[in-house]
Amino acid sequence: MSYFVINKSEDLSGVIKVQGAKNLILPLMAAALLSEGITIFENCPDISDVRYTIKILEGFGCRVDFYDSTLSIDTRGFNPCNIGSKYSEKMRSSFLFMGALLSKCKTAKLSMPGGCNIGRRPIDIHLKAFREMGVKIAEDRDEIFADARYLRDAYIKLDFPSVGATENVILLAVKSNVHIVLDNIAREPEIKEMCNILNKMGAKICWESDSRIEIYGVDKLKPVRARVMGDRICAGTYITAVGLCGGDVIISGIDNNSLLGMSDIFLRMGIEITNNSKDSIRVRCNRRTTNLTSIHTEPFPGFPTDIQSPLMVLASVSMGTVRLTENLFENRFRIVNELNRMGADIKVENNVAIINGVDSLRGTDVRATELRGGAALVLAGMVANGVTRITGIQYIARGYENILNDLNKIGGKIVCHME
Ligand code: UD1
Repeated sequence: MSYFVINKSEDLSGVIKVQGAKNLILPLMAAALLSEGITIFENCPDISDVRYTIKILEGFGCRVDFYDSTLSIDTRGFNPCNIGSKYSEKMRSSFLFMGALLSKCKTAKLSMPGGCNIGRRPIDIHLKAFREMGVKIAEDRDEIFADARYLRDAYIKLDFPSVGATENVILLAVKSNVHIVLDNIAREPEIKEMCNILNKMGAKICWESDSRIEIYGVDKLKPVRARVMGDRICAGTYITAVGLCGGDVIISGIDNNSLLGMSDIFLRMGIEITNNSKDSIRVRCNRRTTNLTSIHTEPFPGFPTDIQSPLMVLASVSMGTVRLTENLFENRFRIVNELNRMGADIKVENNVAIINGVDSLRGTDVRATELRGGAALVLAGMVANGVTRITGIQYIARGYENILNDLNKIGGKIVCHME
C-alpha cells in the first residue's frame, strides 16, 4: 500500500507546467479508432485512466506506443470485440467507445458502465440521443447491445448538456451517412477542442452557436498528429494550493480562457490570477482568503464540479461561511468527514455543504476514496499544522500524472511511501 505523508507548506513559489487534459485525451483515444493508420497525440498525460484506455485499444487489436508524453495509436490491426466489464466497471469513460464502435462496426456490445463512487452516473441521455439517430438498443442489467445499421438524420436536443453524451453522439455521427443537428451540447473547452481535432481528421462539424452544432457525416477520417490542451482541472487544483499556502506561482500550459467559471470565484475569494504569457498564468495570494456567500457547481461555463472538492478545502480555512451546492454528482461530499476530522467545520444538508471557515486544520490520517477528493486531501495536508498521512492515493493517479512532483516543485512537502 502506498501513501503520502505531507507537512505544512508556506509561501509557494516557482513555475509548474500542467499536464495534458484527461477529459480531452480520453474521448480522443476513442476518436482515433475512426481513422485507419497512426494517430499521434502529444502532451498526453501519464495517468491510470489513459493506461486503462490503452488496454481497451489493445484489446481491439490496435498497436499503442506511449513514450515521453507522446501517444501513438495504430488502428490498422483493428478487430471488433466487446469491452468487457473489467474496464467498463473501472472507468465510466469507456462508454465513449460506444459511439466510435458503432460508427466503425455498425453493431456493438458493451458492459454497462459501473456505478461510480462519486454518484450514480446514468447513461439515459446517451441512449436517448442514439435512439433519436435511429440506433436500436437492447439493454439488460449487465450489457447493452446496439445496432446502428439504419441511422437517420435528426435534430437532437439533449435533456441536459452531458459531456459524455455530447461526445458519444459526435463520435457516432462524424463518420456515418447522416446529418445531425445537436442542441444543448456540453460547452466544456475539451469538447470544442475534440471537434477541432476531428475536423482536422476530415470531419465536418460546424458551430451554429455555443451550444449547438451541425454534423455532416463523412465517409473517411484520416489520422492526425495533435497536441492535447492543458488540464484546466489540474490548473484549478494548483491555483487552490496557492490560495491555501500563499505565494507567487507561474502555471504554464494553460490559458486563462479555459479557466472560465472558476477563475472568477478564485479572484473574488482573494487569489490574484493574471495572464503571464499566451499559455501561462501567474497566481498570487498574500492574505487569508474570504468565503463567498454561496457557490454552486454547474456545467461549463459554471463552476466545475471537478474543482468542488479542492474549493471545499479552501473554504474550510477562509474567512466567513459559504453554502456550497453540488448540482452534478450526489456523492461528491465524501471528503467532508475526513476534513472535519482535520478540524474543519462542515455540515451537509442534502446537496449543500455549509462551510464555516476555521483558523487552521490539523494533520491526521485520512483516506482518499475518489480522484478529485483525493487531490483535495493533498491540498488539506499542505495547509494543515502537523503531519497528514493519506492512503488511497491510487485514486489520485487516475487523473494527476504526478501531483507530488508538481506541488513539491513549488514548495510542497509531500513524500510518497510504498509498503
Ligand atoms: C465528464 C468528465 C468529468 C466531469 C463531468 C461534468 C470526462 C472523462 N469526465 O463526465 O470529469 O466531472 O463531465 O463536468 O470528461 N447524466 C445523466 N444521464 C446521462 C449522462 C449524464 O443523468 O446519460 C447526468 C450525470 O449523472 C451528472 C450530469 O448529467 O449529474 C453530468 O454528467 P456528464 O456531463 O455526462 O459527465 P461525464 O461525461 O460522465
